[in-house]
Amino acid sequence: MMTSKAIYPGTFDPITNGHSDIVTRASKIFDRVIVAVASNPSKKPIFTLEQRLDMIQKSLQDLPNVEICSFNSLLVNFAQKKQANILVRGLRVVSDFEYEFQLAGMNRRLAPNIETIFLRPAEQYAYLSSSLVREVSLLGGDVSGFVHPYIQLKLTELMNNK
Ligand code: COA
Repeated sequence: MMTSKAIYPGTFDPITNGHSDIVTRASKIFDRVIVAVASNPSKKPIFTLEQRLDMIQKSLQDLPNVEICSFNSLLVNFAQKKQANILVRGLRVVSDFEYEFQLAGMNRRLAPNIETIFLRPAEQYAYLSSSLVREVSLLGGDVSGFVHPYIQLKLTELMNNK
């Protein structure tokens, strides 16, 4: 029997409960889900790739069929290397659509055999993003409702080292 394998790519700087919500949903649909962390230096992440991987590991440790990897190539090439033919992206609000439409279109042009599938996170995460979590946390706001406690700790550590 063929097993279904999906890739959930992103920068995850840091992973939020909204991302975890999408991975949890995907893990119930597909046999295996690979969370693919883009090194993405152009986004100038505040956490190193190793820190982001470690934080994702801690946030998703209860999901048995999820694997966490990093990549710094073209996403579709990474998917092909992993023999995955599904890309999962979250659609939070209508304004996500345009960017996601472009991304899915380009990925389809590059690799017609790979399908992009969109999942909707729970309502309470519709307005959540990594950059808002970073901003609220760095300005001393409470982010406990938005990230795993370990991520909260790492954000506090980062702030104290500044
Ligand atoms: N919950 C919370 N936040 C979410 C979310 C959810 N469910 N879904 C998306 N977001 C947020 C992210 O936190 C991020 O927030 P920020 O920009 O405020 O920090 C934003 O939405 C989108 O980022 P993310 O989902 O991390 O994706 P990305 O746009 O940074 O990454 C890649 C996109 C990695 C998939 C893309 O850059 C890529 O494929 N790179 C590899 C190179 C490549 O193949 N390029 C060609 C692509 S056609």
